[in-house]
Amino acid sequence: MNLTFGDIEETALIPLAIKASETARETPRIIDKKAKEIIDALGVDVSKYDPFFSHEGVVARTIMFRDKLNELIKKYPDALCINLGCGFDDKFSQVDNGKITWFDVDLPDQIGKRRKVYEDKERCKMLGGSALDGEWTKALPKLDMTIVVMEGVLEYFQKDQVKTCLNMLCSSFEHGYLLAELHSPLLEKYGSKHHDAVKYTNASFGWGTNSAEEYLSLEPRMSVVSEQSYNDEMKKYSIRGKIFAIIGKNFNNRLAVFKW
Ligand SMILES: C[S@@+](CC[C@H](N)C(=O)[O-])C[C@H]1O[C@@H](n2cnc3c(N)ncnc32)[C@H](O)[C@@H]1O
Repeated sequence: MNLTFGDIEETALIPLAIKASETARETPRIIDKKAKEIIDALGVDVSKYDPFFSHEGVVARTIMFRDKLNELIKKYPDALCINLGCGFDDKFSQVDNGKITWFDVDLPDQIGKRRKVYEDKERCKMLGGSALDGEWTKALPKLDMTIVVMEGVLEYFQKDQVKTCLNMLCSSFEHGYLLAELHSPLLEKYGSKHHDAVKYTNASFGWGTNSAEEYLSLEPRMSVVSEQSYNDEMKKYSIRGKIFAIIGKNFNNRLAVFKW
């Protein structure tokens, strides 16, 4: 593997470092061999990107996105699935049913780096493209149902960029679901400096919401199917997770599912 530390954007390093360290635990809640392989190959200390709450949050969201995706894939076994802003995430291998058609999409530069550690497979291919411009969608096969995953991506977009992205998805695909990570206005205001892992990066949080319903004024073709706080998963595993679910009730990120 000829990937170097500088190849990985800092915000993408956070989930990767966390998934690798969870995989190395004696009783891991999630297993991500690719993340472990990448972090081991880098050979640098990434422990600052793996503090307790971020760790628990990434584990929770990985489980929640996987379970929700599995649910939808069961309903639409031949769906076109897109991991938009995929970074180095290896979601396809967690949910593949042997039938879905999967595209890992990220900015062209990022896809170039991803190609250093992943290879295209018959039903799982990489594609350079932006969430803010639908040109890349023209290269995709036209299937009855499209399932788009945006995990850890919209958090960094401003409101007008979220609107551009939602409009692009609805105009490019006739029917679809969007599984999106949403964050609160509190995180938008204070998170960049105080978030236990993001504070080590140059990234800043974009437009935060209190409810997924706030997205609907940006794209009326969409409706909200469900919305669930990561607390629901995090509180299962530790006392700190349980306490945070009470005092940080409205603070934690959520998995929202939209449909159009
Ligand atoms: C925090 S990482 C998350 C990566 C991955 N989804 C995960 O959960 O591990 C954010 C990713 O969003 C990508 N990204 C940022 N702006 C984008 C855009 N306009 N279009 C597509 N991807 C974008 C970045 O390149 C990066 O890979």
